[in-house]
Amino acid sequence: MTTAPITIRHLAYSDLPRVIAIERRAFPTPWSLAMFVLELSKPLGVCLVAVEHHRDEARSRLLGYLICSRYDEAWHLMNIAIDPPLRRRGLGTALLREMLERGGPDGPYTLEVRTSNAPAIALYERFGFRPAGTRPRYYRDTGEDAMIMWRTAPAPSRTGAPGQPHSEQ
Ligand SMILES: CC(C)(COP(=O)(O)OP(=O)(O)OC[C@H]1O[C@@H](n2cnc3c(N)ncnc32)[C@H](O)[C@@H]1OP(=O)(O)O)[C@@H](O)C(=O)NCCC(=O)NCCS
Repeated sequence: MTTAPITIRHLAYSDLPRVIAIERRAFPTPWSLAMFVLELSKPLGVCLVAVEHHRDEARSRLLGYLICSRYDEAWHLMNIAIDPPLRRRGLGTALLREMLERGGPDGPYTLEVRTSNAPAIALYERFGFRPAGTRPRYYRDTGEDAMIMWRTAPAPSRTGAPGQPHSEQ
């Protein structure tokens, strides 16, 4: 990665070709274009991209993305991926931090993740997501179970003082 500035911004329809290219490199069973368009069309949603900027805009690179939808009373993290050569440089963290900024600290937030996906589970746990059951054989391609995770607002302390935001340790 260069020292070019990186920004997190709203995912636009025009980003979708580059998002799908990463999606195909990141997942054995990638989302279709139609699935991304459906998520982007929802009025309540947090859809983000991480972009590396160059003075020559044609050289700007899309590094990763995140899709989070609001259903009923909770935010659902639907998809997150960083281009494989650019992982472990804080980009997933930057996208999740921005999601929490936009969706609000109290959420609540939920997601499903393959039980074998240790990198993603470690990232989610750092943001205060905790396991809350499994969906057996949830992933049709491999028959793998999904771990359900939730991140809920902290309970108010007994002194009545406002609760602290979740730590990102
Ligand atoms: C999961 C994913 C988005 C993480 O993105 P990332 O940019 O690499 O994450 P970060 O660099 O912000 O990592 C933050 C922390 O998460 C944990 N983590 C991330 N990748 C890890 C790995 N391979 N092994 C162990 N812990 C890992 C670490 O605690 C890490 O902090 P550290 O680097 O200081 O140790 C990325 O691995 C990815 O795109 N995976 C493929 C797509 C995917 O599985 N998405 C989730 C679907 S539910």
